[in-house]
Amino acid sequence: MLRALGLGISSALLPAGVLATSRITAQRVNLTTSGEAIITRAIPSSGEQVPAIGLGTFMTFDVLPGGPRDHLKEVMRLFWEAGGRVIDTSPLYGTAEVTVGDFATALGIGDQLFIANKIWATGEYLGDVSHATRSLERSLQRLWRERIDLMQCHSLVNADVVVPLLRAWKKEGQVRYVGVTHHEPAYTDLLADWVERGGLDFVQVNYSVLERRAEERLLPAAADRGAAVLVNMPFGKARLFKLVEGRPLPDFARELGIESWAQYFLKWVISHPAVTCALPSTSNPAHVVDNMGALRGPLPDRRTRERMLRHLESIPGFDELAGTPWYPDKQYRGTVTRAQGELRARQ
Ligand SMILES: NC(=O)c1ccc[n+]([C@@H]2O[C@H](COP(=O)([O-])OP(=O)(O)OC[C@H]3O[C@@H](n4cnc5c(N)ncnc54)[C@H](OP(=O)(O)O)[C@@H]3O)[C@@H](O)[C@H]2O)c1
Repeated sequence: MLRALGLGISSALLPAGVLATSRITAQRVNLTTSGEAIITRAIPSSGEQVPAIGLGTFMTFDVLPGGPRDHLKEVMRLFWEAGGRVIDTSPLYGTAEVTVGDFATALGIGDQLFIANKIWATGEYLGDVSHATRSLERSLQRLWRERIDLMQCHSLVNADVVVPLLRAWKKEGQVRYVGVTHHEPAYTDLLADWVERGGLDFVQVNYSVLERRAEERLLPAAADRGAAVLVNMPFGKARLFKLVEGRPLPDFARELGIESWAQYFLKWVISHPAVTCALPSTSNPAHVVDNMGALRGPLPDRRTRERMLRHLESIPGFDELAGTPWYPDKQYRGTVTRAQGELRARQ
């Protein structure tokens, strides 16, 4: 299904500042229901192609039991139609796994999605894997799957036990790929340590125009050791939209086929040669269509990426943005929000 069509683009046909996709090993594959080819990247350890934009589910896919959620089925349907395959979730995300599992089954796409999931488990004693094993079993049930495509050690919790266990699961066939994740910039070098040791199929890291620490060690290490890179927080948890609120896109962005700020931020992320797939999350059907638009048209080259960054840095407020609250103007009413509120109320 994922065989590349190999639609290379000659650099001679592209405007200045636009990267010929073949030079950065991005390919174009026909996965959309409209038949349009989209940008994909190869997983280094297998050669399997995946679309360079996926879907995150933290907060956005966590709904209270009985709460409205039809909009999330629409997000998944439109994601699929636009060629989306990679969905990132976790047992830590409240009911997100259940939501993904229910709607993937209802849409008849359950086995065709590439599910990136996570394990956050310690154990009853040092070296005990019973909690992690129960977590896997529950995820398989919630997602209606017989195996998980990618299992990641969530936030490096108990990584010395969990990563060897993930490798065992891969050998035994319960998972296809093994990875580690974190989202705090302070842990980016620790992720790089794990990648440099070798033997990982994937690493997932926080990377955006707002958070670029991964460029120093992690992304070069992943390219060197053949680890695929998933990117979380590509919009800096929606804070980047606050920065550009009411501002027009610069004219040079149009040459890249960029039609929105979301596509600007995403094309910047996926044009880094080491990045395999960015994982923007959304609860809004119109936003998923917008985000998947970044899979079409040319990607920026190194100089144009630099120009895109400088443009954002020149906007007043950029320097303070990283210190501002997550998800400005958003309200997600799921089990995670409820539990966090209840705990705060007891303090
Ligand atoms: N491994 C880890 O430790 C870890 C940590 C953090 C995140 N992650 C993964 O990475 C995923 C993405 O990160 P994130 O969700 O934290 O942050 P993000 O993707 O940077 O930002 C998500 C926010 O952007 C908004 N948004 C999305 N598309 C938009 C558009 N086109 N226009 C305007 N607003 C838009 C969403 O609001 P709307 O709902 O209104 O669209 C949402 O509030 C997560 O869902 C999760 O799967 C993993």
